[in-house]
Amino acid sequence: MTNVTVIGAQWGDEGKGKVIDWLADRADVVVRFQGGNNAGHTIVVGNNVYKFSLLPSGVVQGKLSIIGNGVVVNPWSLLDEIERVRGQGLKITPEILVVADNACIVLPLHADLDRAREERAGDNKIGTTARGIGPAYEDKVGRRAIRFVDLADAESLRAKIERLLAHHEPLRRGLDLPDVSAQQVFDMLMAVAPKVSPYVQPAWRVLNAVVKEGKRVLFEGAQAAMLDVDHGTYPYVTSSNTVAGQAAAGAGVGASAGGYVLGIVKAYTTRVGEGPFPTELHDEIGQRLGQRGDEFGTVTGRPRRCGWFDAVLVRQSVTVSGIDGVVLTKLDVLDGIETLKICTGYKLGDKVLDYLPAGLRDQAAVVPIYEEIAGWTQSTKGARSWRDLPPNAVIYVRRIEELIGAPTVQVTTGPDRDDTIVMRDPFQG
Ligand code: GDP
Ligand code: IMO
Ligand code: MG
Repeated sequence: MTNVTVIGAQWGDEGKGKVIDWLADRADVVVRFQGGNNAGHTIVVGNNVYKFSLLPSGVVQGKLSIIGNGVVVNPWSLLDEIERVRGQGLKITPEILVVADNACIVLPLHADLDRAREERAGDNKIGTTARGIGPAYEDKVGRRAIRFVDLADAESLRAKIERLLAHHEPLRRGLDLPDVSAQQVFDMLMAVAPKVSPYVQPAWRVLNAVVKEGKRVLFEGAQAAMLDVDHGTYPYVTSSNTVAGQAAAGAGVGASAGGYVLGIVKAYTTRVGEGPFPTELHDEIGQRLGQRGDEFGTVTGRPRRCGWFDAVLVRQSVTVSGIDGVVLTKLDVLDGIETLKICTGYKLGDKVLDYLPAGLRDQAAVVPIYEEIAGWTQSTKGARSWRDLPPNAVIYVRRIEELIGAPTVQVTTGPDRDDTIVMRDPFQG
């Protein structure tokens, strides 16, 4: 028996929420370790659709759910999300939800900065979720962020706010944003403090105690390896490390606690926001993937860009994240496409590459080398057993495994919790 770390292996929205829900049933604790409310994880249980941005998906099953120190947390969004899912019948109490006392707070001024910079960037914008995630992480590494623990000490909080504003004031003026007073920030934090403080604890202690008891931990990654601030398509990335190695640092446990690394891989490729996308399709097939796959951002509602499966990217994610096995999601979306294409390498000028180069100019210039695979006409929607898959779908899955260098442990064929073909339980190693 081992712990499991779930991460996205492409550009996000691979269906992590659905897989995490399946795994949460077998876990004792679910932990978020990076990102913030830029994430949007969907879980469908019968007629209920839950959308989580900050809450670990374990709350659906009432499992101990920890928002680790590596997450940047907007407390107002968190409280809204708690209210929203309570309205759907979930019980969120301090017994099941823990927010790390050393996690940094996302303030309205972070979202202001995110939006203002994007507006000014014009064609060079990143296409962020406008939630202030990047600016909040900047303040974290700049050592001027406000953390949850600070809310309990009103006196020193004032000085911390002054320090933070000394950085933000000139930025805001330069961007024509109205001034924010220290008193305003202090008042809004003091108003929210009593509402969030019941959840705030030294999360690393809570987590290490359950690890010691031999309980099973599920680490819930947000975003994906190609959006990682180091390994992704920089600067078109998010502002955190999203690879599996971050699980330990973002939760406060030892490096080996992450256990089995499960990569979530969509059977084609999507991306929301700007940035290079070698296998992007601008034709009818791209539109068809978007429609059948219902590819609209969970957080912002923006249409996701769609393209063929890129085995080069996923192989790179498998390598930099140490992915042990993958769940291949949304196979049903490919039903009825006569010929499928898989990108197996790139051409860059007269060179052939088996990886995505780090430079933006090269990333934009690579031309995919495709291998064609016959599609299938039968529906795979809702298939729950390997035997239900048409032979060509099996060939497609097997070819992907070969190209990415990792075994498929599950295939999903619909949004519902049970639309899953299970070959192996990652908790069994
Ligand atoms: P996440 O960010 O990785 O958790 O993924 P999102 O929730 O943002 O986006 C995935 C979308 O695909 C959600 O609307 C899911 O309900 C849906 N989904 C997940 N698995 C499948 C599947 O196997 N087939 C289909 N058709 N939809 C799926
Ligand atoms: P989940 O967890 C897809 C993208 C944004 C943008 C870039 C930077 O649901 O898979 P940010 O707001 O983080 O500064 O935006 O990252 N992005 C995501 N794309 N899924 C996500 O999360 C994402 N979180 C951020 O679209 O391109
Ligand atoms: Mg999502």
